[in-house]
This record gives sequence, structure tokens and C-alpha cells, in this order.
Amino acid sequence: MRILVINGPNLNLLGTREPEIYGSDTLEDISVRCRQRAEAHGHEVDFKQSNHEGVIVEWIQQAIGSVDAIVINAAAYTHTSVAIHDALRAYEGYKLELHISNPHLREPFRHVSYVSPAVDAVVAGLGVDAYVHAIEAICSLPMGE
Ligand code: DQA
Repeated sequence: MRILVINGPNLNLLGTREPEIYGSDTLEDISVRCRQRAEAHGHEVDFKQSNHEGVIVEWIQQAIGSVDAIVINAAAYTHTSVAIHDALRAYEGYKLELHISNPHLREPFRHVSYVSPAVDAVVAGLGVDAYVHAIEAICSLPMGE
């Protein structure tokens, strides 16, 4: 199984960005843990980050027919992007939305997600461990066994 993990804007700054909210692990630390966990199940993780909405849309489009599951932390685009919503609707595989923090406990502008109505599952508020939990959950789905 191929799992694509997509990270949106400013997540390249993990480790130094608001560590009281996002913790001190870097995105590279998280990607290593995701790859190791998937490999333990015989699966493959492609872990990506972009600060550009159109790039993320293109990655989702390229995943159609070639990737079994997407984990997406669209970061700030979660709350603004109809384009990412539409691309996710077009993708037929399993989709999981992930947030390190719980946006519902934060500013009102974070309470709306354009991603949630387009995905199968949402994980929020578990910190950076959520990434590994998401990989584990996807590997435990019937299609991952
Ligand atoms: C985030 C939450 C978003 O509101 C924010 O814009 C982010 C990160 C999270 O992982 O908690 O950049 O998606």
C-alpha cells in the first residue's frame, strides 16, 4: 500500500514554530517515524510539504489511481481552500484529515474546515504523535492487511 502524507503551509517550521502549540519535533523527525511505522507493516509512505495551494492540489490529483490513502494536514488552507476540498473529492482512495492541535479550541477562524466534508476521518489535538497514529490506523484498515 502507498500512503501519501501532505503537509501544508508553515509546517516546514515545526520544531521552532509556536512550540507550545506544535511541540519541538521537526517535520523531518515526524517523516522518519511515519516511514518506519509504515515499513513495519510492509507499506510505503511518501511524506511531502508545500507552502503553495496549487502544488498541494496537484499532488492530490497525481494521487488519483496511484496512491491508496492520503493523510493531509492542510494547515491554514484547511480553513480557506475550496480548491483542496474539490481535489480531495475527486480522489477516490482513503482520506484522513490531521491536525496537531485541536482547531476547535482555538480562534473562531479555525473552527471551519473545508477539508472535513471531503475526507473519511479526522484526527485533531493529539500532538505530532497523530501522524504515527494515522499511519497505524490506515495500516489496520482491511485494505492495509
Ligand atoms: C494546524 C491547525 C491550523 O489551524 C493551522 O493553520 C496550522 C496547523 C494543526 O496541525 O494544528 O498551520 O493544521
